[in-house]
Amino acid sequence: MRIASMCGSLGVGSTNRAALRVAVEHLQSTGRTSNVTDIALTEVPMFDPARVEDPPPEVAERRSVLEHADGLLLAAPEYAGGLAGGMKNALDWLVGSGSIYHRPVAVLSAGTTGGGFALEQLVRTLSWQGALVIDSLGISAPNTKSGPAGFKDAETITTIQRWAERLVDAVSMTPLQLLKRVTDVVTPFGIDPSRFGDLR
Ligand SMILES: Cc1cc2nc3c(=O)[nH]c(=O)nc-3n(C[C@H](O)[C@H](O)[C@H](O)COP(=O)(O)O)c2cc1C
Repeated sequence: MRIASMCGSLGVGSTNRAALRVAVEHLQSTGRTSNVTDIALTEVPMFDPARVEDPPPEVAERRSVLEHADGLLLAAPEYAGGLAGGMKNALDWLVGSGSIYHRPVAVLSAGTTGGGFALEQLVRTLSWQGALVIDSLGISAPNTKSGPAGFKDAETITTIQRWAERLVDAVSMTPLQLLKRVTDVVTPFGIDPSRFGDLR
């Protein structure tokens, strides 16, 4: 099983990055998957609609990793009441590419208030591209639950580990199970799951 991860924060001591580390280390140490590729977003240029068909190499490489992944772990902060721009920009480059179409995705936002607005925008923009959001996790006040070495709060660590496990579980689900799971997650965000069509 191949998993890809993307982090929408460049912050020193980023708690979103720390949460992804917890998730990936857990999947690897429990033998759920050893194949996790982190996709750095720093080199992704600003989205240019004229280059959707012929993207810059930085974008083409990232699309290729995503197309070969069975599932995605995404973590991004909320800035000024919305999804971190670097993550939105990276996702805009995927529109029309089909790179994440029908791909299970688990999303997370660690931030002061729990990232509710960031998660809402993540779930919507991913669903608009046909990605299947199978879990959404907000972590509020992450700095009180972590230190320089990462998360230290046992309950938060377990919650992140379960979040990662749900992605791996979703990759092995039947189309019917997957559709039910996605429906449960996206419906509260006002998204009609019929947009995903036939998952088979
Ligand atoms: C410019 C800026 C805007 C922010 N806006 C929000 C916000 O609207 N809502 C919120 O909950 N936290 C907000 N925060 C706090 C971040 O969510 C918090 O610092 C988070 O830990 C950043 O993610 P990171 O630890 O992965 O770098 C903001 C932080 C910055 C620097």
